[in-house]
Amino acid sequence: MNKKCLVAYYSRKGQNYVNGNIINLPVGNTEKIANMIRELTEGDLFEIKTIKSYPKDYMETTRVAQDELSENARPELTEYLDNIDDYDVIYLGYPNWWGTFPMAVCTFLESSDFTGKTIIPFCTHEGSGMGHSERDIRGLCPTANVEKGLAIRGGSVSSAEKIVRSWISK
Ligand SMILES: Cc1cc2nc3c(=O)[nH]c(=O)nc-3n(C[C@H](O)[C@H](O)[C@H](O)COP(=O)(O)O)c2cc1C
Repeated sequence: MNKKCLVAYYSRKGQNYVNGNIINLPVGNTEKIANMIRELTEGDLFEIKTIKSYPKDYMETTRVAQDELSENARPELTEYLDNIDDYDVIYLGYPNWWGTFPMAVCTFLESSDFTGKTIIPFCTHEGSGMGHSERDIRGLCPTANVEKGLAIRGGSVSSAEKIVRSWISK
């Protein structure tokens, strides 16, 4: 039987930096792509959410995120995945924060056993692309098969469906 795939993502709605301007995003960029992938794959959706929320202010959030990165923090999640055995393929989405994913994604990756699973990363960003996030996933999940990811600029998310569709079909 073909297993469903999982679309797991972290995304921060609210104030963000898009195309050189600070704007308010009622739905986060990565969340929009995650929803597209979920629809196209008919997979399950899992939102990686932290108990502690980040500041509303974009600049303050960049400072908190930088501290978490340098401390190698593991922010606690509101919910943990308890059915990894149901999936063989996991699409993993996140915004690029300081060249990699938010530390909540580390918490997520360390909370299940991804041995033998295929992880397909996707990220949204403001110019840094995937950064070194794919390498970082491999570091945290050395027994998973981590594929090359898809990077989409925040400002292009709304018109990205065609790109996402053709990426998935490969
Ligand atoms: C804390 C923080 C750090 C960021 N660092 C980077 C970065 O290093 N490179 C980059 O291209 N974009 C960076 N960005 C921009 C985000 O990657 C981009 O706005 C993304 O689309 C946000 O996705 P989201 O709405 O799903 O959270 C950063 C944004 C935040 C909030």
